[in-house]
Amino acid sequence: MIRGVVLAGGSGSRLAPLTRTVNKHLLPVGRQPMIYYPVQALVSAGVTDILVVTGVEHIGDIVSQLRSGEEHGCRFTYRVQERPLGIADALSLAEDFARGEPVVVVLGDNIFDAPLAPHLAAFTASGAAAQVHLHRVAAPQRFGCARFEGRRLVEIIEKPTDPPSDLAVTGIYIFDAQVYGFITALTPSQRGELEISDINNRYLAQGGLRHAELTGYWTDAGTHASLQRANRLVAE
Ligand code: DAU
Repeated sequence: MIRGVVLAGGSGSRLAPLTRTVNKHLLPVGRQPMIYYPVQALVSAGVTDILVVTGVEHIGDIVSQLRSGEEHGCRFTYRVQERPLGIADALSLAEDFARGEPVVVVLGDNIFDAPLAPHLAAFTASGAAAQVHLHRVAAPQRFGCARFEGRRLVEIIEKPTDPPSDLAVTGIYIFDAQVYGFITALTPSQRGELEISDINNRYLAQGGLRHAELTGYWTDAGTHASLQRANRLVAE
């Protein structure tokens, strides 16, 4: 079975002051810490070997909360991201864990109810090198945004001022082992991070990127407004 990666580093600055002493992914969403949702999404899809990446400050709290994985029906491995240099930087720490196989990556602040198993199966059957999962949103300028020419996905634009569609690229990705080489070749963006959208565009240029649309609800929980929304969605 494909292995999973949950990325839970970053500074959480958009949730200040809640994140001054608490890791963003340990904040409550409904009755559980935020990070339980991506973990449960993976485990429900049969992905039970899971790498969790987080920053130096909170690795202790993350391990104390998640423990071995026994109570979630999975097995956790942990890696420390020295500095919050971006999602692609955090993902680079998964190389040894992946052992040359594809991984399914879920951002630790993504909350959604669509089952992942059909998407994993479609990826495997397709022979694609990578896969992104799109969702219609009201504010695409907050996300990676998909640009289409006809029915063909041609570009992903990170935080566009003038969004070419209302389809956000969610924080659920599947990458084959080429991704680590692509990350090594990246340069930091204007916000000083290694951007996952640059990686996805690299796969697009190569013709290896498949896309699927996520059904159900999806939100990030990285701002005060979206954290409230996440709480509402899981309560409903
Ligand atoms: O939620 C989906 C969006 O996530 C995508 O549409 C964007 O393309 C993608 O860039 C990302 O956008 P954000 O600006 O919202 O990402 P943020 O910096 O909030 O990071 C999201 C998660 O990634 C965070 O909860 C933990 C992980 N992360 C982030 C950084 C910057 C790390 O593990 N390490 C990091 O250094």
